[in-house]
Parts: sequence; structure tokens; C-alpha cells
Amino acid sequence: MAVALLVAAGSGERLGADRPKAFVVLAGRPMLEWSVDALRAAGIDDIVVALPEGEAAPPGCAGVTGGATRSESVRRALAAAPPAAEVVVHDAARPLVTPEHFREALAALAHADAAIAAAPMTDTVKEAGEDRRVTATHDRTRLWAIQTPQAFRREALARALDVDAATLAQATDDAWLVERAGGTVRVVDSTPENLKVTTPHDLRVAELLLGERRA
Ligand code: CTP
Ligand code: MG
Repeated sequence: MAVALLVAAGSGERLGADRPKAFVVLAGRPMLEWSVDALRAAGIDDIVVALPEGEAAPPGCAGVTGGATRSESVRRALAAAPPAAEVVVHDAARPLVTPEHFREALAALAHADAAIAAAPMTDTVKEAGEDRRVTATHDRTRLWAIQTPQAFRREALARALDVDAATLAQATDDAWLVERAGGTVRVVDSTPENLKVTTPHDLRVAELLLGERRA
């Protein structure tokens, strides 16, 4: 059985709300509760939430205080997690996640150390220097926009997180840490609907989509 690490310890600076982002009310409830529901619907009941100082975990979830960086929050939550061979990491900032996202990521662990939700790129991606001169155009058919959930064999995640603070701070996702430790990582098909709430615009879109789902 898998345990879940729900990272919710960020402040939400870019959203600019009156409270930490994961606790902003979205379609009638604190944002992080949408992810807790989806986890439970996927049969995952052991949930450790990394929290900002002074906030409580949702009922039935364990809570730990998060760290200064996202990966440090993941490391702290993992240290508090009950025994399980598989771990799924999810950002509380992705409230549109579905039970299928969790199930499919965990199933793909049969063939990899990590399996991560990803959407095919729809924009063309170019590289440019500081002078704005374009130096490369990438083959879009091979590019993926990476999301959470990210599922891991527990020992692979623990090993990957066992690095110095500077490396940990550099990681924008946990799978990168597994990649650099030599582990195998697979992408699992997702869609742009599993968006990350970063700005007030994203919050409006999430509100509309969750409202539609409830109707
Ligand atoms: N997160 C965390 N601990 C941190 C930083 C981020 O648990 N020290 C979590 C956030 O709560 C969020 C997820 O990681 O669920 C993705 O981070 P992001 O979207 O960047 O959220 P914030 O860091 O809160 O937002 P901002 O960067 O705008 O301050
Ligand atoms: Mg952040």
C-alpha cells in the first residue's frame, strides 16, 4: 500500500492571498482538501501533510511543519510517513487532481523507480540568450510539462533526497533528484486541467473547473 506526502507548506507569494496558498478557500473549502479527497477516493488513506507554521492538518491526516524549500518539505514529510513500499508526492497547489492520476502513477512504478504525471507540450519551446537571440528550437513531440502526482519506490526517493541543502534547493521536482541519482523515471499521461494554482488567474480557472465538476 502507498502513503501520500501532500506538500502544503508554501506561502503562496505569487498568489498574494491573506493566508498560505493551500488554505485559501477554493469552491467552498480550503484548497488542500480537494487533494485529500482525491487521495482517499484512490484508496490512499495514509496522508502526511507538510504544513506552514501554525496551520493544522485536515482531519484524519498527519501533519509536519514544512521546510524552507519544497524538497525539504518532502523530506520532512517522508521522515514522518508510516512504513510503505510506495510513496506518492503531490502539491496541494494542484486541487484538480483526480483519483486516476494517483492510481496510474502508482501502477507505472512496476516499470520504474519513479512515475510522474505529465502533459504533452502544446507550445513550441525555444531557447534564447540574455540578448533575446534565439539559439535553439526543441522538438516538441519529445517534450512534457511535468506535474504532480509523482510516485516513487520509497527507497529510491529516500536515497534521492539524501543530498546537501544546496542540491535540494535546486530541485523543482523530486523526480529530478531521482534522475541525478541514476534512477529510472517514466512519464504518465495527464492533461493541462491538472493545473497548478500559482497566480490569481489560476485560482479563477480552478474555481470554475471545480464548480463544473460539482454541478
Ligand atoms: N511547498 C512546500 N514547502 C515549501 C515551498 C512549497 O510544501 N517550502 C509546496 C507548496 O505548498 C505547493 C507546492 O509545494 O503546494 C508547489 O509550490 P508553489 O506552487 O511554488 O507554492 P508556493 O511556494 O506556496 O508559492 P510561491 O512560490 O508563489 O510562494
Ligand atoms: Mg514556491
